[in-house]
Amino acid sequence: MNIRVVFNQKGGVGKSTISTNLAAASAKKGLKTLLVDLDAQCNSTHYAGIDHHDEIKTVADMFKQTVGWFSTQSTAMDFVQPTAFDNLFVMPADPALGKIERELESRYKMYKLRETLQEVASDFDRIYIDTPPNFNFYSKAALISATSFLIPFDCDDFSAQAIEKLLDNVAELRNDHNPELAFEGIIINQFNAQANLPKQLVQGLKDKGFPVMPTHLSASVKIRESHSKRTPIVYLSPKHKLSEQFEHLLSDLEK
Ligand SMILES: Nc1ncnc2c1ncn2[C@@H]1O[C@H](COP(=O)(O)OP(=O)(O)OP(=O)(O)O)[C@@H](O)[C@H]1O
Ligand SMILES: [Mg+2]
Repeated sequence: MNIRVVFNQKGGVGKSTISTNLAAASAKKGLKTLLVDLDAQCNSTHYAGIDHHDEIKTVADMFKQTVGWFSTQSTAMDFVQPTAFDNLFVMPADPALGKIERELESRYKMYKLRETLQEVASDFDRIYIDTPPNFNFYSKAALISATSFLIPFDCDDFSAQAIEKLLDNVAELRNDHNPELAFEGIIINQFNAQANLPKQLVQGLKDKGFPVMPTHLSASVKIRESHSKRTPIVYLSPKHKLSEQFEHLLSDLEK
């Protein structure tokens, strides 16, 4: 089973946009795909078209169950919601994730996501996990559950400096909790081929020996439109340059 986590502790680098569109591109190819949203901001959940209401079970309910909040136990598939898109399913986030984080951490529930995903693994071909912009309980739970991780990079000098720190954090977690976790690659986002700095920054990452994914994602205002229409760009505008880049990126990953 292939479980990819998209992680960068820096905010706004494209984690939610990338995890949702990779999951959508995967579903479009006919792979039954689950998108797990671990960010209390619920951006991926919203982008994939899922609405919160009382009946919907979220990843927060899954975690709450592990600390005995509910009298009846749900199975892992009860936390999986269908979307309007063929083959695309979501385990939704919930604003409540923030409130319960400390209790989950103090009660050592970091492995519960891994157990839950193992339970549903045979129902899906691919799983993508979106994470919050922090190295917190949820991103750690995601990195423990995953088979590989991807780091979106926004072509900013501070981000380049932060990547080594990020990799140190992940390496420690890998050694302690998930030795199988592979570093699949850095995804260059909002790349401007006309400017010099992005090219230099990308070259700098390559020079350090980091795996940089060969397909870079351009900046496009169409992303905002796809967010507001709550339709991943690969569905909204399949012929758009950025949609094609997402599909290439997925092919690079699936090679
Ligand atoms: N390729 C792109 N072209 C244009 N805008 C983009 C692109 N990728 C991301 N953005 C914009 O950048 C912002 C941040 O994107 P996104 O929410 O995906 O990042 P994130 O890393 O998930 O953020 P957070 O850390 O808050 O969860 C959004 O406003 C989004 O529209
Ligand atoms: Mg996000």
